[in-house]
Amino acid sequence: MVRAVDLIQKKRDGHELTTQEINWLIAAYTDGRVPDYQMSAFAMAVYFKGMTTRETHDLTMAMVNSGEQIDLSAISGIKVDKHSTGGVGDKVTLILVPLVASFGVPVAKMSGRGLGHTGGTLDKLESIKGYRIELSQADFIKQVQKIGLAVIGQSDSLVKADKMLYALRDVTATVDIIPLIASSIMSKKIAAGADRILLDVTVGDGAFMKTLEEAETLSKTMVALGKEMGRRTIAVITDMSQPLGQAIGNRLEVLEALQIMQGQGRKDLTDFICELAQLMLELAGKQKSLADIREHLTNGQALKKLEEMVVCQGGDLADLYRPSAAPVITEIAADKEGYIKELPALAFGLFAMRLGAGRAVKTDKLDYETGIVFEKKVGDSVQKGDLIARVYSNEKLSENMLTEFKKNVKINKEELSVNEILRIIT
Ligand code: URA
Repeated sequence: MVRAVDLIQKKRDGHELTTQEINWLIAAYTDGRVPDYQMSAFAMAVYFKGMTTRETHDLTMAMVNSGEQIDLSAISGIKVDKHSTGGVGDKVTLILVPLVASFGVPVAKMSGRGLGHTGGTLDKLESIKGYRIELSQADFIKQVQKIGLAVIGQSDSLVKADKMLYALRDVTATVDIIPLIASSIMSKKIAAGADRILLDVTVGDGAFMKTLEEAETLSKTMVALGKEMGRRTIAVITDMSQPLGQAIGNRLEVLEALQIMQGQGRKDLTDFICELAQLMLELAGKQKSLADIREHLTNGQALKKLEEMVVCQGGDLADLYRPSAAPVITEIAADKEGYIKELPALAFGLFAMRLGAGRAVKTDKLDYETGIVFEKKVGDSVQKGDLIARVYSNEKLSENMLTEFKKNVKINKEELSVNEILRIIT
């Protein structure tokens, strides 16, 4: 008879588990035969001893098989999914999904919520009055057949083992280990049914992966897992040392997405989204020039797709364009001249969370209206007194909050260049 304690010991002592042992452990954990305390001991053993490529593959498959899998075959064409490993100010999905759909490539996407300093696409979409993130599988597929795109919340019946294991890892200091992250993400992507996958692996202060080397290892692991499972996968490693784009906060990020889709966004984020779209389209078998993609992004075609999706999912179109209702807006000015050297993503993500834009714990209620909009980003030149950012809050900012904000805006004399995409792993 297999016993969890023996498998924990085997991993603790640095040995390789068999496919049958991994299958048994995940099945027994999912149906309650293995309790949380044994699974957390196992996760910690993996944290210290790692997993071989074969074990990571088996773990991923065992997780996929722990729940339902979505069959997207009723939607014609190559379905491409996209996933980000998380960050601050990441509104990419809001723009990229309609943009790719505007080229006739169907996108059936399940997104997540934000936690801690990181944001989640579902929360951003829910800042639009009426938007429904819960659709039955049949309605999800019907919508993609009809208008070419849908973004909904992940169904509870998908990858049950990951739901349980992720919650456990979150409170047992076992999140940041590559085999567990790779199997967690890829099991969800495989179960969600897309044929091809684009992974945005963030790196830097605001991301899980703190160094380029770690991000590269995670990317290679996930790309290999995707390929082994017959789902062609590309990973891009992207910078999360500063917030992405200008806005942090749910409503503010929707507004920034709209600005970009009206050709009025910052060039760096616009270019970044076009590059991601080019990769996603290539995965779907369509070669498009960046100029063509930029044209779709800024001439209203992508925006039309976003509007169709919002309407189809019950959202109020007028509310989509509503400005933030935060009652207090505080302007933060540069206190010296030079170039912005750092805007640490983690610090500003946590700052926005304290304004109500994010959750400290899963049950926290969000304030959709609050957050930060940066007028200057890393590499930009500033004069003393120039506007750096606007902070949207419910109450006047305390002196402590103001000091903290300014302390995190690092300005120095040297010019520096910034890249959003650091590496592409295929
Ligand atoms: N995102 C996930 O879905 N899982 C992880 O383990 C880490 C990030």
